Amino acid sequence: MRWLSILSLVLSLLAADHAVSSGKIPSYVSPCKRNSDDLNQCIVNAWEALRPKMGEGIPKLKIPPLEPFSIPETSIDRRTDSLDVKATMTQLAIMGVNSVIFSKLNVNLTDLSGSVSLAFADLNVTTLYVMDAMLMKIVPMKGQGKFNGTLNDIKVNVTGRAELSPKNERGNSYLKLVEIKFKGFISDARGRLVDTTNNPENKIFAETANMFYDNNRRGVLDILTPFIEEFCESLVLELANQILSTVPFEEMFIEAVSKEPLKKSNNITS
Ligand SMILES: *[C@@H]1O[C@H](CO)[C@@H](O)[C@H](O)[C@H]1NC(C)=O
Ligand SMILES: *[C@@H]1O[C@H](CO)[C@@H](O)[C@H](O)[C@H]1NC(C)=O
Ligand SMILES: *[C@@H]1O[C@H](CO)[C@@H](O)[C@H](O)[C@H]1NC(C)=O
Ligand SMILES: *[C@@H]1O[C@H](CO)[C@@H](O)[C@H](O)[C@H]1NC(C)=O
Repeated sequence: MRWLSILSLVLSLLAADHAVSSGKIPSYVSPCKRNSDDLNQCIVNAWEALRPKMGEGIPKLKIPPLEPFSIPETSIDRRTDSLDVKATMTQLAIMGVNSVIFSKLNVNLTDLSGSVSLAFADLNVTTLYVMDAMLMKIVPMKGQGKFNGTLNDIKVNVTGRAELSPKNERGNSYLKLVEIKFKGFISDARGRLVDTTNNPENKIFAETANMFYDNNRRGVLDILTPFIEEFCESLVLELANQILSTVPFEEMFIEAVSKEPLKKSNNITS
């Protein structure tokens, strides 16, 4: 038996009747049937119904608040010709995530894969940083401080693939997202590094980087985009699997397929 991409995984889980009645799923979720013809549309509708709750998150399902979406601490350590960076960001906050627009959701129940296109009008980002980086081998970005910026008109194509775990000793299996790929395009972005150390050299680095960016926005964005994609992939993979660990597959599956009694689940194999 089969299931699919990250989004539909999460949403179908949110939507399963049984899980609603068993109290695992909040009661305000409207159910989708797994075998319905318009499953994709149903999933999008379910998200729309949930959107007002997503801002604050749904702790029961380990869905974190999306507005703002906060990451207490994260690091990057990557070396390429165009960008060599070691950085730690703290108090990273992204505003605008919950205004995402979905299109072209396509879920394949045969191979547990799926794809979806996302669009964001604006994302505002703020963070504190400690950074030692070299952009295009010529622009040092070194120091410690704060960053704020706005990304405009972002489009992302997401593809993903899931697997069903072997049953555990209690007879439950869990969906696991095993692969996710982001392909994004950021139309434009403005931002500012503000050094907060008392080191004059660092202040010059920050100002120079800002100026270089302002004069080369398209080129720098094209360099940054793969880093951002990779960052989002690992973030979403971890988040999705955290959410998927909250409800056994059997509980979403049975009732999403039909309302027949629980014993049917004994026939399910992965
Ligand atoms: C982003 O910031 C701009 C200006 O600071 C503001 O007008 C806009 O509403 C903000 N957008 C979001 C999604 O927070
Ligand atoms: C779903 O995946 C299977 C196996 O990869 C493939 O044969 C089938 O054509 C796909 N269905 C759709 C609707 O894309
Ligand atoms: C960054 O913050 C400053 C001060 O709060 C604000 O004036 C500016 O518009 C912000 N820049 C961006 C790109 O969000
Ligand atoms: C997303 O896919 C569509 C076609 O499937 C393509 O036209 C578009 O350029 C892609 N967007 C990105 C950001 O890769």
